[in-house]
Amino acid sequence: GQQNLNKEAYRINPSSYEAKVEDFAQKYKVREEKGVPVVKPASGVDVYLLGRKWEWWPILELQKGQSYRLHLSSMDWQHGFSLQPMNVNVQVHPGYDLVMTVKPTEAGEYSIMCNEFCGIGHHLMTGRIHIVDR
Ligand code: CUA
Repeated sequence: GQQNLNKEAYRINPSSYEAKVEDFAQKYKVREEKGVPVVKPASGVDVYLLGRKWEWWPILELQKGQSYRLHLSSMDWQHGFSLQPMNVNVQVHPGYDLVMTVKPTEAGEYSIMCNEFCGIGHHLMTGRIHIVDR
């Protein structure tokens, strides 16, 4: 993707952010993986992801070569969004909607790790992004 992150942050209320992410997930869900919705947004729509103890939710399926506005926020505590194997690391705080423009350049499976200590389940706090080329 894009290493020069172009970030904006807006104050939001965690519960209204959560409702937005749930609406987004419901609208664009294509399947589930272990009970977690896999969400494939239509082109041009904003993409939402949330961090909470202890998961990144939902799973995203994005199209290679397409630009997205990715929103990130936390429901509860400070988490660290670390996208592997890309070199993307951002702090995710409750009460702020962090918006980045991302453009995946390689198809594949990406993992999201939490790199900010957030309690007993910190090491289990992972998520997934699938980049597809079709
Ligand atoms: Cu979330 Cu560590």
